[in-house]
This record gives sequence, C-alpha cells and structure tokens, in this order.
Amino acid sequence: MIETCLFPAAGYGTRFLPATKAMPKEMLPILTKPLIQYGVEEALNAGCRTMAIVTGRGKRSIEDHFDISYELEHQIKDTSKENLLTEIRNIMETATFSYTRQKEMRGLGHAILTGETLVRHNPFAVILADDLCYNDNVGVLTQMMKIYEKFRCCVVAIEEVNNDEVHKYGVIAANEVEDGVYKVYDMIEKPKKEEAPSNLAIIGRYILTPDIFNILRTTKPGINGELQITDALLELAKLGRVIGYKFKGIRYDCGSIDGFVRATNDFYQRMNQ
Ligand code: UTP
Repeated sequence: MIETCLFPAAGYGTRFLPATKAMPKEMLPILTKPLIQYGVEEALNAGCRTMAIVTGRGKRSIEDHFDISYELEHQIKDTSKENLLTEIRNIMETATFSYTRQKEMRGLGHAILTGETLVRHNPFAVILADDLCYNDNVGVLTQMMKIYEKFRCCVVAIEEVNNDEVHKYGVIAANEVEDGVYKVYDMIEKPKKEEAPSNLAIIGRYILTPDIFNILRTTKPGINGELQITDALLELAKLGRVIGYKFKGIRYDCGSIDGFVRATNDFYQRMNQ
C-alpha cells in the first residue's frame, strides 16, 4: 500500500568521527551488516518495494552496497562463502533503489524535501537508518503501517525517554486515544527539560503524507538553523493529522557510541542463541 521508503542518509555523522570521515555513518556495521541494510530489510518486511535514498558527498559506498560487485561475485562463486551474499542478493532482487543528493546539509526536514522527486505525490515511509529497531516478530515499520491503514494520516514512532534526554529529540504533546496510540496536538524539537510537553520522543520512523512537502517549502529554519521535520509536522498536528505510536520493540541509537555498542552486543548475543 505504501510503496516507497525514504532514507535520509546525507548527514555528516560527526559523533562518529573519524570513522565517518570517508565512510557514511549508514555503512557502519552491526556484526556483518551495515545499518542501512537493516533499515532496508525492515522496509521490505513492511511491504515497501522502492527504497529512495537521500545521499550526499562521500556516500557512494551506499550505492555500491546495493549493486552487483562483479569481481567479488566471480571470485566467490561456487565456494563456501557464496552464501554470505544470499541476503543482500535477495534484497537487490526484490527492491528497487533510487538516489538523489542533498547538496547542503540543512537538516532532516530539508533532506526529506530533497526526496520529493523520488516520492512524488504518494504517502511514504521514512527510516533513519542510524536508529536501528529490533522486534522479535513484527517490525516497527510494519506496526506503523497498520496504524496508518486505520487513521490515514501521518504516523510518528515514539518512545518514552528520561527527562534528561528530551533535549535530543522532537517531543510531542498528545492525547492517548487507544493503548499506545496518541493524537498529537503539539510538538517541539529539542526542547529544554523545563519546556518539554512530555517525555514522549519521536524516533527515526515516520509515515508521511505528501502534503508535508508544501509545508516544508515554507517552514522556516528552526533549532540549530536547520529545517526541522518536527516544525513542519506541527502544522498537520494542529489539524489533528498526526498520530504518535508507541512501538513494540527496542531502538538502538546507533548514531551514538553507547547505542552502537549496545546494538552490537545484543545482536551478537541473539546470533549465538
Ligand atoms: P542526525 O543529526 O542524527 O545525523 O540526523 P548526523 O547529523 O549525520 O549526525 P551527527 O549528529 O553529526 O553525529 C538524523 C538523520 O537525518 C539525516 C542523517 O543522515 C541521519 O540519518 N540527515 C540529517 C540528512 O540526511 N541531512 C541533513 O541535513 C541532516
């Protein structure tokens, strides 16, 4: 039903310097798979078939990762190592990849607006690959698709965070309409602890309706001088057109060292179970 998943992947990943000096943050691996591959798998499981990736300078390896590597294929053909490529081959057969470049890093809202040429006039999903989500059976984006089917408006994934952490997130004010489902009426990007309307923080999963693009075009730069998706979504929230969904599962903030190490340890343990 929602065909396209957009991956804003143009950020500099400064928290991971120097690792991200010449390598995209989205290509950092958790065990043997880069973060963006986990995101693409989640999108495929949720029924998306077109992966629209917003890249920037120095991000070529993302394109190469989802393309055939002839020398490598030739080298390992008919050897015991061939099965190591099975998953990525399946992804390449099932999904279509398209790319556009964000020329200046002017924030997540700007990255999403840059993706308009790939998404056009359709509702679409957004995955921030550095937020790695894990759930035993039903993936987070799949859970959100069900919420979208019911409410037919924007859906943001939310998580309760410590009051000391709210300044890192977009935070919502909302009324719970069902267990774990909230109608959002206000939202603030990176509020101070005293100004946060709740401790319900938006994480890196969205389903957006295409009217967001016109709003983004006229949204002024917000905190840190960046075009914030939260500021644009507020317009729709005021019309009762944004749902917050408390997802089932674990999110690892792999854009931070702590989250990245935690994800690595947990995935390693699961692999050995
Ligand atoms: P982050 O702020 O987490 O990513 O943006 P960053 O800026 O790369 O990381 P640090 O803070 O410098 O370490 C959230 C997501 O939005 C994308 C990033 O790639 C990341 O997936 N993004 C952000 C863009 O694509 N373009 C932007 O201008 C900003």
